[in-house]
Parts: sequence; structure tokens; C-alpha cells
Amino acid sequence: MDVLVIGSGGREHALVVSLSKNPDVGRLFALPGNAGMASLATLVPIGTKELDRIVRFAKEERIDFVVVGPDDPLVLGLVDLLEAEGIPCFGPSKRAAILEGSKVFSKGLMKRYGIPSAAYEVFERVEDALLYAKDCTLPSVVKADGLALGKGVVIAYTRDELLAAIKAMMVDKVFGQSGEKIIIEEFLTGFEISVLTFTDGVSLRALPSSMDHKRAYDGDQGPNTGGMGAIAPNPYYTPELQELCMQRIFLPTMDAMNKEGRTFKGCLYFGLMLTPDGPKVIEYNARFGDPELQAVLPLLESDLLSILMAVSQQCLKDVEVNFSSLSSCCVVLASGGYPLCCETGKRITLCEPEEGIMCLHAGTSFEGESLVTNGGRVLNVVATAETLHEAVEKAYHGVSFVSFDGMQYRKDIGKIALEA
Ligand code: AMP
Ligand code: GLY
Repeated sequence: MDVLVIGSGGREHALVVSLSKNPDVGRLFALPGNAGMASLATLVPIGTKELDRIVRFAKEERIDFVVVGPDDPLVLGLVDLLEAEGIPCFGPSKRAAILEGSKVFSKGLMKRYGIPSAAYEVFERVEDALLYAKDCTLPSVVKADGLALGKGVVIAYTRDELLAAIKAMMVDKVFGQSGEKIIIEEFLTGFEISVLTFTDGVSLRALPSSMDHKRAYDGDQGPNTGGMGAIAPNPYYTPELQELCMQRIFLPTMDAMNKEGRTFKGCLYFGLMLTPDGPKVIEYNARFGDPELQAVLPLLESDLLSILMAVSQQCLKDVEVNFSSLSSCCVVLASGGYPLCCETGKRITLCEPEEGIMCLHAGTSFEGESLVTNGGRVLNVVATAETLHEAVEKAYHGVSFVSFDGMQYRKDIGKIALEA
């Protein structure tokens, strides 16, 4: 069975590592992949948004199954194009990926089906948004409707910040078309919990919960990033809360998508805020979280490929989906300047990790024989252990085996979780 993984981050490296453990996997390809994946998969130098070239490649190589990592190809409709050629995939169709691709859609869905989320208004005209912003409550959260590389959310604490965010999105169009419509929503407080789920539109299985660390610097300071680290499971996610989320949020979302004629098959990611009024959805993603998946996947005891294929064939309820009771911690090592700008081409020194510590690659490439940095988030050090405390210690021990010029990382991944 020949499998193609789309993407080049730590998330996709984690997928490649898990998939390569299945003896039924013959040839494994990563498109475009990164240096870390090269020992397990053949790298295919095609971009993740070059849909026609991806489809042609999959047909020519007679790929049996495709796993799509990032949001862009999903929202652009890669799964539809591949399935039209008879190539099965893990990932939602374009109609279903709109759950991540349009916040106006997802907020509307939650409103129509009574799924708890922040109160909000949609604006299509800058004049209306500016008028509303004159006397709305602060802080307020401004969100671009479409995809914006995880940067389309601004928490405005002052009136000036609010007006500036609206103008940046709607007048200066810093996110292009994605900011043609915006949402201004209520600011929620509480602990954040990420829950990745497998769903085929018939049943839904939650993976262990996790906690991302989105801000660049220690103590949740600095700009938002793609994620600087994650721990799993999230200690704030109690069994009672888990049941409540399943009944009030997860299953209602799956059902709502069915009712709208947009059956969702893939990883449905719930970004939740545990507010004083109960859990509310901050965002949906139509794919695995990065770096959440890197922390969660080592806890999976069942075979990943069987689950992904069952999702695609809509028989998820017939496969085993078991997780260990271990804890896990993933620390992201980023390039100097990330997320504002980033230096690349720095030589990486990397020792063989010890048992129970894994070094996943994200922005890495080869320059001749040398491993060099090639992006903002460069490497992910992941460790599992009996307790979260040990997992965090072990991950940071793993970090001490890596170095490159300008390397920056948060020293407090897991701190808030350990205080729970
Ligand atoms: P998103 O890209 O929608 O996940 O938003 C990025 C981050 O902004 C989230 O992880 C939250 O920390 C924060 N955020 C988004 N929406 C809200 C909200 N309504 N209230 C408070 N914080 C929010
Ligand atoms: N870590 C957040 C995300 O993948 O969107």
C-alpha cells in the first residue's frame, strides 16, 4: 500500500513516523516533506497548494491513500479532486473544510445549532465595523473571515487597537481576500483546551485533550505564533467536562454538518475555552493541530493508518482507537526572530535522542550534507512519560541535545498545566 502525506511540518513528520510503523505501508511519500522525513519517506518537491500537480503525481505513482496535513489544500478542495480520480484520502471535502475556511460560516453554524461560542457580529463594510467599534465593550476580538496563517485574530484591549485591526484587515487588506469580511466577537476568559477528534460523519472519537502555547514568549507574552509547544492530556479537561463537550459541542457539530449537507470526514479540531459559563468553542480547524498532534500521537496505541482509512470509508466505529495513559510534552524550537521574521540556513547540531525522546523536524532542509534551518518553527522535541512532570523534564532534557544559531524556545511549556 503506497501512502502520500501532504505537508512539511512537525505534524506531518509525526504522521510519517506513525504510518511507517504499519508493515502494510509500502512506499511512503511526503510532499514536500522536510529533511527529517527523508529517512522514512521519499520527498516530492511540489507545493501543498499546487493541486493539479499533486493529483497528477498521485495518479502517476498509483498512490493508494493520501493524508492531507495543512488547511490550505483542504480548503482549496484537494480531497475532492483526488477522490474524483478514485484516490481515497484522509481529510474533509471542500464543502466541509469551510468549517475552518470561513469563520462567518462556522459562527453561523454554531448560532443555528445552539453550540456554545462567543457572541459576535459580522461586518462586510468597513464603515459599519468602525461605527460598531466606537462604543462596543473592550477587550474585543477581531477575526478575519478566511485563512490567515494563524495570524487573523487580534485581541484589542483599547479602542485604538480595535480601530487599527479593523482598518488593517478591511482597508489595508493585510490578509487579502480573507479579510473582506470580519467578525468582532466577545472576549472570553478561561483555560484553553484543544481536542482533536476523528469523525466520519457517522461516529466521532476524541483523542486525548491537549494544551497549545500560542504566544511566542514565556508567561504567554509576545505575539501569537503557530504554537510554541503542547502537552497532553490537558489536566483541566476532566471526565465530566469531556462528557459535556461530547454532548453539547462535538456530536452537535458533526450532526449540524450532516444537516447542512456538508458531512465532515477527517480530523475535526475543537479549540475550546473553559469559561466561567462552561466550555465554549473559540475555533474549529478541519485538520490536526500543530503542535498538538506531535504531543497526542505518541499516546495512540492503535494503528494510525487503519483509523485514517476507516474515517475515509465511513466505518470508524468498527476500528480500534486506543490510547495509553501516559503524558506527553512537545517543545518547539524556533528560528531567531520568529514569528515576526526568521533567519534561515543556520547549521543544526543534533544528537541521537535517548529512549522516549523524539526529535521531529519542521523547518529543516539539507545543504549538501549539513542539516540547516529552513523556516520559523524548526524542530519539535517530544517526550512521553508516566506523569506530565516527567514528560516536561524529559522534553527539556532532549532540547539540550540540539543547537543552532539564534535558536529560541519557551522555557515554560507545561507550566500552567502543572499548576492545575
Ligand atoms: P484562533 O486563531 O481563532 O485560534 O485564535 C487565536 C487565539 O486567540 C486563541 O487561541 C485564543 O487564545 C485567542 N482568542 C480567539 N478568540 C478569542 C475570544 N473570543 N476570546 C478570547 N481569546 C480569544
Ligand atoms: N496549534 C494550533 C493550530 O494548529 O491551529
